[in-house]
Formats: sequence, C-alpha cells, structure tokens
Amino acid sequence: MKGLLLAGGTGSRLRPLTYTGAKQLIPVANRPILFYAMDAMVEAGITDIGVIVGDTRDEVMQALGDGQSFGAHITYIPQSAPLGLAHAVKSAREFLGNDPFLMFLGDNLLRGGLRTLADRFRSGDYAASILLTAVDDPRQFGVAVLDEDRVVRLVEKPAEPPSHWALVGAYCFAPVIHQAIDQLQPSWRGEYEITDAIQSLIDWRLNVDSTRVEGWWKDTGRPEDVLEANRLILEDLATSVQGTIDEDSRVTGRVVIEEGAVIVRSDIRGPVTIAAGAVIEDSYIGPYTAVGPQVVIRRTEIENSVVLADSTIEDIEERIDQSLIGRGVTVHGGSRRPRGLRLVLGDQSRIEV
Ligand code: G1P
Repeated sequence: MKGLLLAGGTGSRLRPLTYTGAKQLIPVANRPILFYAMDAMVEAGITDIGVIVGDTRDEVMQALGDGQSFGAHITYIPQSAPLGLAHAVKSAREFLGNDPFLMFLGDNLLRGGLRTLADRFRSGDYAASILLTAVDDPRQFGVAVLDEDRVVRLVEKPAEPPSHWALVGAYCFAPVIHQAIDQLQPSWRGEYEITDAIQSLIDWRLNVDSTRVEGWWKDTGRPEDVLEANRLILEDLATSVQGTIDEDSRVTGRVVIEEGAVIVRSDIRGPVTIAAGAVIEDSYIGPYTAVGPQVVIRRTEIENSVVLADSTIEDIEERIDQSLIGRGVTVHGGSRRPRGLRLVLGDQSRIEV
C-alpha cells in the first residue's frame, strides 16, 4: 500500500504565521506537525509516500528531504491549485498507479496512529475505509451515516447533520476511487470533494468500511487548535534534560530541556519543552508551553503557549497565557514613560491586551 500525504493548501486561518511558512510545518511540542504524520505512515507499514505540495513546496521539501530520516521514500507531487482532496488524488494519479493507498492530511494529528485503519483495510475486500470520530458540531466536516461499521451515506459539511460521525482526514482507497473521481463535479465551495467520490463508491454498491478513532484527533487549522494539539502532545512528554540549569532555578514535572538551552534563576513547571539554544532568565515557564530554538525569555511569566524559533520576550508584567508566537518575534515590556503600547504587528495578527 502506498501513502499520500497532503502538504499543500494556503493555511488562511493560521495567518499571519502561514505568510512565511507552511501550516503543516508549524511545530507542536517543538516538532513540525507533518513529522508526526510521517511517523504515523511508517508505523502503519507505509514507506512509499507521495507528498502533495503547493506554494510552500520548497519549505516542505527542505523539512522532509527524501524521507530517509523517517525510514521512508518520498516522491513530491505538485498540485496546481488547492482544488480539494479529490483533486489532490488526481494530481497523484501517476505516482499511485494501480496500488491501494492511504491518504492523510498533513495538518491532522492522531494519537492512536494509522495502523488500525490500514490493517482493517488490508484485511477485507473494501473499495474504501474511512476513519470516523464523534463530534459535537459535525457541520464543518464530512459526515457519515452508518449501518454497524458499513457506511451507508456521506455528506460534506451538511447544514443539518444526519449523525455525529465526522470524517477524520485519513482514508484508505482501492484504485477504483480514480473512476469515482473522474466523474466528479465541483461542490458549492468550488472543490472536488473526496466525500462525494466515496459516496459514488457507495452508489455503485461497493464496500465502504469505517474505523473509529482511537485516542484523540486534532485538525490544526486554527491557532487555538495548535495550542490544543501542543497540550495533547505534551501530555505524553518523557523527561530529558540535556541543557544547563543553574542552582537558583527550580524544575518540576515532566520537561524536555534540549542541549544548549540555558535556564537561569527561573521556575519551569512541566509539561514543558525547551529547544536547543533557548535562554530563559528570571522567568516562569508554566505547564503546556513549548519554547522553540534560540528563543530568549527574560523577566516574563508564560504558560499554555507555543513560541517559535528566534523570538525574544522580555519584561512582560502580566502573565502570557494561551498564546501562539511566530518566528523572530520581539515582545518587550518595560519602563518607558509615559507608559503606553508600541506595536508593530503584521497583517492579520491578533493581540489581546
Ligand atoms: C476536509 C474534508 C472533510 C473532513 C475534514 C477533516 O475538510 O473535506 O470531509 O471531515 O477534511 O479534517 P476541509 O479541511 O477541506 O474543510
């Protein structure tokens, strides 16, 4: 079975972070989201992986390389425009050939991995196998109607959902899916929907199977999702301290402090991960925080937050909470008189003071 990993798209809901980078490369717990997807594929026994790329192709290719470091072999496949999941499959037609394949969205995180889905598909005679999870508001997803585990009907983003079973961004397909895709029309949102293609398989009376998500699933489309994903991944953090901690610092709970990170007169309360080259002085780093490489934090309290590489945060009086801070950002508090806020913010930044 081949793998198809989607790493195109515009990441509009994650602006401004995605002006300068691919949404799939935003790190959670200091690791790009896309790396977890690669691991999940390989762990499910899939090593021949096509990666769909768009405008951010250079960055994605640099991050994943030829796939060897994940134990995989990657073929990069350009998608001319982000015209939907079925269009992505069409773009990969040559790579996929007549093999069955597992498609996974590169901005999705699955605690339980992809192995159960892949094994179930391999063990039966299915045209497709989809992954489902119960959600409170299914209107923003593809929604499935089930008879036991057999899928009876699918609708994309229904105004009135027929069930609470949402399609998660992981699918297994037999090659017959290409016939279904060939006769698709664009949906109301102008995209070629994989959900509609799977519905065609059902109309043709082919077997479409479903598997339930084990553990949690997170689609990291919005800033609050990235913070939540960061929290969920940090829940499983195993302690490893390679950096330097001075005698006046206190470190409690599960923490990763990478080599070259320096902690001075600070209180670190895990789960927290601090990347190589970061400097933390006279600060409090609270639970569920990921501090990126070469970040400097001085005289500041921060928790439940993600700080990307090369940013500096100094002299902030109030505790920073639930914040997603991009690369190379400077946040300075301080004693300037008269007191006031001086802001230089990029387009579509969001700040609450
Ligand atoms: C896509 C699919 C949808 C699925 C979702 C999972 O939606 O079209 O069926 O439930 O991924 O993340 P989109 O991300 O394009 O809104």
